[in-house]
Amino acid sequence: MVSPVTPKDLKLKVNGIERSIPTDCDTPLLYVLREDFGLKGTRFGCGTGGCGACTVIADGKAVTSCDLPASAFAGQTIETVETLATGGDHPLLTAVLKLQAAQCCYCLPGILMAAKALLDDDPSPTRERIVSALDGNLCRCGAHPRIIRAITEAAAETGGAK
Ligand code: FES
Ligand code: FES
Repeated sequence: MVSPVTPKDLKLKVNGIERSIPTDCDTPLLYVLREDFGLKGTRFGCGTGGCGACTVIADGKAVTSCDLPASAFAGQTIETVETLATGGDHPLLTAVLKLQAAQCCYCLPGILMAAKALLDDDPSPTRERIVSALDGNLCRCGAHPRIIRAITEAAAETGGAK
């Protein structure tokens, strides 16, 4: 468990809420999110930075959260998949549900965060940019083609896909 706040605690903002972690916290961010902050949407896959299941957004960039200590994210703004359902469903959620884009959904939280980081940066990405943005996200079910269609549809909703 994360210990109570002390003056030496590091701060990070998670889904708009300021959180504190001990300065010496060497626990990977993924575990802190899931076990200490109760944000169970972010998934553990390989634990070595290779599958993308644990992808979150840190200061606007999609990053894996299993392979760096939470203290490495001090002062940063973190977004997890839960943010997509805050204040109404994000178009990405709407599109994957409408198109039933995923199969088992294990990869989906990470893929959605990689896609959100892309759309935040480029609201109307080309298909090539979408494919490239998902380069680090594996999907054992082979649902990438449908997921890419859903991201394209979400982009059309938010900014107009190219
Ligand atoms: S669980 Fe983090 S990259 Fe696989
Ligand atoms: S939908 Fe099953 S791993 Fe991607």
